[in-house]
Amino acid sequence: MTDKPDIEWDQLDYARFAQLASDDRLSMYEKIGFPDSYRKGYEELIVNDIAAKLPRLGQCGLTVLDIGPGCSAVPHMLIELCRRQQHRLFLVDSPQMLAQLPDPDFVVKRPGQFPECAGGLAELNGAVDVVICYSVFHYVFASGNPYAFADEILRLLAAGGQCLIGDIPNASKRYRFFASDAGIAFHKQFTRSDTLPPQRPDGPQPGVIDDSVLMGLVLRARAAGADAYLVPQPAELPMANRREDLLIRRP
Ligand SMILES: C[S@@+](CC[C@H](N)C(=O)[O-])C[C@H]1O[C@@H](n2cnc3c(N)ncnc32)[C@H](O)[C@@H]1O
Repeated sequence: MTDKPDIEWDQLDYARFAQLASDDRLSMYEKIGFPDSYRKGYEELIVNDIAAKLPRLGQCGLTVLDIGPGCSAVPHMLIELCRRQQHRLFLVDSPQMLAQLPDPDFVVKRPGQFPECAGGLAELNGAVDVVICYSVFHYVFASGNPYAFADEILRLLAAGGQCLIGDIPNASKRYRFFASDAGIAFHKQFTRSDTLPPQRPDGPQPGVIDDSVLMGLVLRARAAGADAYLVPQPAELPMANRREDLLIRRP
């Protein structure tokens, strides 16, 4: 058995994900940047939550776009959902990641880094009924322009369209939790020590997603004529105490 490579979990980007995707020493969770314990057994809950937040997925014959589908059980379940509902499903991720997914005739793979590749999606402008982008935004934020990312999604979204930019780590939410009795107890149990959790530093932290970034995205989407909301994750998800979802709906 060959040794697994070291994975710098907190330093992943589009290019590194592409390398991980083709490394068959890795589990399907490791290929998408998660230790197995963070995802194994949670996928049905995640897909059910995505479907509940995007009720139009339950309609038939729509155009659906998944930005950054990865290659774990989540995209496989979403592909099956789209098969059942007779949707056309566009997938945008690296060629290496997309190669891990099947090629049924209703799936259109568009390899590329979003939003830089958005020019190649011009036929979808104003024509996508449902956009799914789950556990991807923080990788874009680390090196890209979050407003350009949101603007391109808003350009693609059809009238009545729904978009979930989900599983976003929010440092402000994490500090709020750590300041609570529940957060202190959680931290003691997690670290198996009596140390107190970290406190919120003064001022914004460069490179970190916090309330101001997420509220900024809400305002950006609303300025583009869409409704936008920050919504919680089900408490059963392993990072629900520090992550949240951005829901966008075009009237
Ligand atoms: C943490 S995984 C999430 C995968 C899947 N959405 C899920 O939740 O199971 C992040 C995925 O986003 C892809 N990705 C990262 N940045 C991207 C970008 N700018 N455009 C398209 N895909 C991107 C990665 O290649 C990887 O497949």
